[in-house]
Amino acid sequence: SYNGLALTPPMGWNSWNKLRCGVDEEDVRGIADAIVAKGLDELGYRHVTVDDCWMANSRDAHGDLTADPERFPSGMKALGDYLHARGLKFGLYGSPTQGTCQKRPGSYGHERQDARRFADWGVDYLKYDWCQTSPEESPDMWADFPGHTQKQLARVLFPRMAKALQETGRPIVYSLSACCEDLGFPEWGRSTANLWRTSTDISDTWESMLANFEAAAAFPEAAGPGGWNDPDMLEIGNGGMTDTEYRSHLSLWAMLAAPLIAGNDLRTMSEETRRILTNRRVLAVDQDERGEQAAVVTRENGRWVLSRRLADGSRAVALFNATGKERRLATTAEAAGLPGSRHGYRVRDLWSGRASHTAGELSATVPAHGTVLLRVARR
Ligand code: GLA
Repeated sequence: SYNGLALTPPMGWNSWNKLRCGVDEEDVRGIADAIVAKGLDELGYRHVTVDDCWMANSRDAHGDLTADPERFPSGMKALGDYLHARGLKFGLYGSPTQGTCQKRPGSYGHERQDARRFADWGVDYLKYDWCQTSPEESPDMWADFPGHTQKQLARVLFPRMAKALQETGRPIVYSLSACCEDLGFPEWGRSTANLWRTSTDISDTWESMLANFEAAAAFPEAAGPGGWNDPDMLEIGNGGMTDTEYRSHLSLWAMLAAPLIAGNDLRTMSEETRRILTNRRVLAVDQDERGEQAAVVTRENGRWVLSRRLADGSRAVALFNATGKERRLATTAEAAGLPGSRHGYRVRDLWSGRASHTAGELSATVPAHGTVLLRVARR
């Protein structure tokens, strides 16, 4: 890992998917209270990140970033203190260019100053986002790097903040983001950061979730302890998908060893949403210390079989039905990577909790858009 952090995929909550630019300090404190009251922190959901729009529209007289005076009147230090007092971690958002996606000030030319400010405020996690990248939006930046491509420039500016964060001496998880541009993060993210986006922004639809899953599934070798593919934050509980689809969402992210950053309103979520987000057996797959991302075993007409090797020698196997009809999906323990066994295998269905045995076949009738997630071990 580039900084010794995020040995398992980061977990927490982020304001963007649900609250966008409306987020304020009361929301964040309320979310933090809900995390603690509902025991989500004990399951690992600890990083609470305020995404875009936490900043005032311009820097202060010292050139420092400051909090939006209307929505964060108590300031960012106070918010960090509130989170830390509850055993949580504090995350903020910024951009390496001259502006964030919502046109708040970017860190270009202020990297060390901003990193020090973040450290002073107690920031534990930085999401750094590639936005406002045109010469009109970031003229000074392009004047300094004439003839560079976006990808070349990203490879200068993301490491620049990585270094600035390290120079503060404070452990800060570093998350690379890019809404719209393929910067090739899986090739070089690990040397620079703890997680990196592999796709455009997720939205609360089946199609978007599926596309982001597929994009991250293409880079299994990039993931491992300290550095993770990021198919983007969770939409579970935001209302645009069915509970079956949301169970697939968490199952697939767990198979990918993806960061699990809830993006719904944890204060008011339904009991079913809470049950999905807090399934310990599924979370244990995501957080498995071996940190190996699933490989695709087979993929035929929207029927996916994925397998992920776990630290105890067992395998997580996902039977994922991306078709619009109920289907029978099948594989074998050997195809999923387990050595042959005369005594067969123990199987646990991670959503139902049901335990069973098999001589080798792994199969299930899976509803449309559903996932049967199994943990399989030799007997
Ligand atoms: C980009 C990112 C999103 C979010 C928004 C905020 O689109 O990809 O995750 O941070 O910016 O403006």
